[in-house]
Amino acid sequence: MSVSAAVRRITPPDISAAKGGQPLVCLTAYTTPVARLADAACDVILVGDSLGMVVYGLPSTLGVTTEMMIAHGQAVMRGAARALVVVDLPFGSYEESPAQAFATAARVLAETGAGAVKLEGGAHMAETIRFLTARGIPVMGHVGLTPQAVNALGGYKVQGRGADAARIAADAAAVAAAGAFAVVLEKLPDSLARRITAEIAVPTIGIGASAACDGQILVIDDMLGLFTDFRPRFVRRYAELGTAAAEAIAAYAADVRDRRFPGPEHVFADEVR
Ligand code: KIV
Repeated sequence: MSVSAAVRRITPPDISAAKGGQPLVCLTAYTTPVARLADAACDVILVGDSLGMVVYGLPSTLGVTTEMMIAHGQAVMRGAARALVVVDLPFGSYEESPAQAFATAARVLAETGAGAVKLEGGAHMAETIRFLTARGIPVMGHVGLTPQAVNALGGYKVQGRGADAARIAADAAAVAAAGAFAVVLEKLPDSLARRITAEIAVPTIGIGASAACDGQILVIDDMLGLFTDFRPRFVRRYAELGTAAAEAIAAYAADVRDRRFPGPEHVFADEVR
């Protein structure tokens, strides 16, 4: 099924304008069929570099390439007609200079048709965000736990406790002032996420942050319960698809081994009837 041309797609300015209103609904997606499902309910679909772990089984997001992001960005755009599609810039593709970030972001937007890119980092990325937004590239920021910095951070820990709170609040303010149309806040104490949400002029999108954020995002595989062995505190599971899939696969295997599948209704006669 191709997507309808009549549907108006949500834009980065629409997202900015939603500050303080009804919470924004955001999910990741990496494939066309899942994007179709998410598009019905979401304002933003993020083609997150979490796909490195979720889709490819990598140990972190560090091995994700621009080519992977473009292939999945194209797949998601084929399934999403209404939601704003945002594509993550992967590790190593933008940090070196504003010019490097522009070349990568321009390629991602041109080759996928997505509406915006996301990049990780606070005050040190403000110059790059300003460079991109001044040249027509909408940028979603991402501060707090920035998974591409997992080695420097020493793991996937809650950020911004104690003395670090002021630095992270300053990071969010710098990213917003540089022109980001929204900022993801990942794994922060509730009080800090509330403070940042009150202080910056663009929507905050929380993941492991606060119900007070202007929107929420989750990795879709986490909220669908596709991983039976991964239960982070900040995820509410809305389904147990991993268990359901394992049961379905076991039932199929038993049917094949006992010759219950295929049944008469699944095989073809010599002649068309
Ligand atoms: O890559 C990703 O999925 C993300 C979200 C967790 C915000 O950056």
